[in-house]
Amino acid sequence: MTVHFHDQRQRAACTSLREETLAGFAADPKAVPPKFFYDRRGSELFEAICRQPEYYPTRTEEALLARAAHDIAEIAGRDANLVELGSGASRKVRLLLEALHPASYLGIDISKDFLLDSTQRLANDYPWLDVHAACADFSQPMALPEGFDGHHPLAFFPGSSIGNFDPEDAQRFLGNIHELLPEGGGLLIGVDLVKDKDILEAAYNDEAGVTAAFNRNLLERIRQELDSDIDPSRFEHHAFYNEGASRIEMHLISPQAQQVRIEEAHFDFAAGESLHTENSYKYTAASFRDLAGSAGFDTVATWTDPRELFSVHYLQRVA
Ligand code: AVI
Repeated sequence: MTVHFHDQRQRAACTSLREETLAGFAADPKAVPPKFFYDRRGSELFEAICRQPEYYPTRTEEALLARAAHDIAEIAGRDANLVELGSGASRKVRLLLEALHPASYLGIDISKDFLLDSTQRLANDYPWLDVHAACADFSQPMALPEGFDGHHPLAFFPGSSIGNFDPEDAQRFLGNIHELLPEGGGLLIGVDLVKDKDILEAAYNDEAGVTAAFNRNLLERIRQELDSDIDPSRFEHHAFYNEGASRIEMHLISPQAQQVRIEEAHFDFAAGESLHTENSYKYTAASFRDLAGSAGFDTVATWTDPRELFSVHYLQRVA
């Protein structure tokens, strides 16, 4: 089966690695947005993170989706146009397809090659499904390709990727999805929950060092794509839970003073200075319901595991 490809990169910020990196290195404190983790290597490393024993979100969410698939299908109805934002390996959606029996599936991701491989595998495994792929930056306002904007769209945003937006951006992002959906349209979303600090910190400091490699790969990407002398081995992975802000923070620390060149620009790092690479916000079921409400969604159903590590919410667009 063929995958229908929609190239929306002209409108996407996939092309802005250069601008956003130069601006982020010049800022105080230095920071680069986490969306740039996901070149092919970064996407592969992220898949490897999901298999680490300490990284509970993936397996917990998958168990929740498998358990809730029939309830979800009952709420959403059959023949939806299922739109997955940040579809990555398109693995979790497989847990829903038999029960939901959508008319079509559209995977949207920033990493084109990875997207094409994974949607092709999906099309091969589900020959009855009309499979589409769009390369786009879903953190920006976007339009759905023709055919997905009308009848019965159901948005799917698993993995707690909503947690990688700051709260105001999360509200804006949900507002963008609100715009994409007709009244009554559904959004199935996975959200990581506030919990014990040790469990959270272990998940972002796995023993095997995969998260550290994922974090450093951002610098490898800058080195390869931007004509830079940056040396990833001269930075250290640092991840911790900021309890006051309810978020995991990931940083790359320069243990020694060093200067980094990107194209013609030079950036000084003091010893111990950080490049902030990611926030991963954690919500309570109630705080997430409030966030969804502020963006114009009612919470129709929420599923959590017995240890309350993770949650999946079915939201419905209100007027
Ligand atoms: C994609 N996102 C939800 C992951 C997270 O947990 O915030 C990205 C990640 N960063 C480090 N490990 C996983």
